[in-house]
Amino acid sequence: MTSLNQIRSTFIDFFKVRDHLVVPSAPLVPQDDPTLMFVNAGMVPFKNYFVGAATPPAPRAVSSQKCVRAGGKHNDLDNVGYTARHHTFFEMLGNFSFGDYFKEGAIESAWTLITKEFGLSKDKLLVTVFHTDEEAANLWKKIAGFSDDRIIRIATADNFWSMGDTGPCGPCSEIFIDQGPELAGGPPGSPDEDGDRFLEFWNLVFMQFERFEDGTERPLPKPQIDTGMGLERMAAIMQGVKSNYETDLFRTLIAASEDATGVKAEGAATPS
Ligand code: GLY
Repeated sequence: MTSLNQIRSTFIDFFKVRDHLVVPSAPLVPQDDPTLMFVNAGMVPFKNYFVGAATPPAPRAVSSQKCVRAGGKHNDLDNVGYTARHHTFFEMLGNFSFGDYFKEGAIESAWTLITKEFGLSKDKLLVTVFHTDEEAANLWKKIAGFSDDRIIRIATADNFWSMGDTGPCGPCSEIFIDQGPELAGGPPGSPDEDGDRFLEFWNLVFMQFERFEDGTERPLPKPQIDTGMGLERMAAIMQGVKSNYETDLFRTLIAASEDATGVKAEGAATPS
């Protein structure tokens, strides 16, 4: 079984050998950013590099960032307990390009990592793109060999990512795996897309704008890449389980809490 820790290392090492600076997770409370209460994505510690307010220490970076989504723009709180994939606290793996490579480099490296390193089957994978982003759709055709039915065009904010009400933003392309018909749910963009069958596990954001309080946007000094892969979701995929709570990380946490409380996770008291 591929452990969650191995998945994190594989991701970090893959980008490290591709000249990405390995950056440790920042604290959960953003440093010097009054627009957010908690870090809600891997790109937050790099915000000033994206908008040109600070010079990055390297043109490329990779990280595994602690995130909280329990309020604000990216609020997963109401989904926790109802799906097998949402958490309020989780780790986001990401690779970042500060004006270096753009869409082609991001899609090429994502495809190589998930199919060659993680060994996912192309037949189970599909992607979304922002409805006007023909460039991304064409790159998926060229790099992954996807036909049009595997590239779903989405016109909503689901495929136009922004950190918060203000800050860097841009169209995005999400990678999904079809976990099979035994799970409820439809493909992205369908009425029952919220089910667990089609699992989004990696979002590639093509950062191109900075949004301001009055709703206006200005182009960033250079187009940039921000990606976010759910570590716990990738662990469920790689471990062949249909719920994050059945991965090695959560099984260990659940067993420890059973030991500490003397109560089984299902609710029955353990014999003393
Ligand atoms: N910043 C990319 C994401 O959170 O999906």
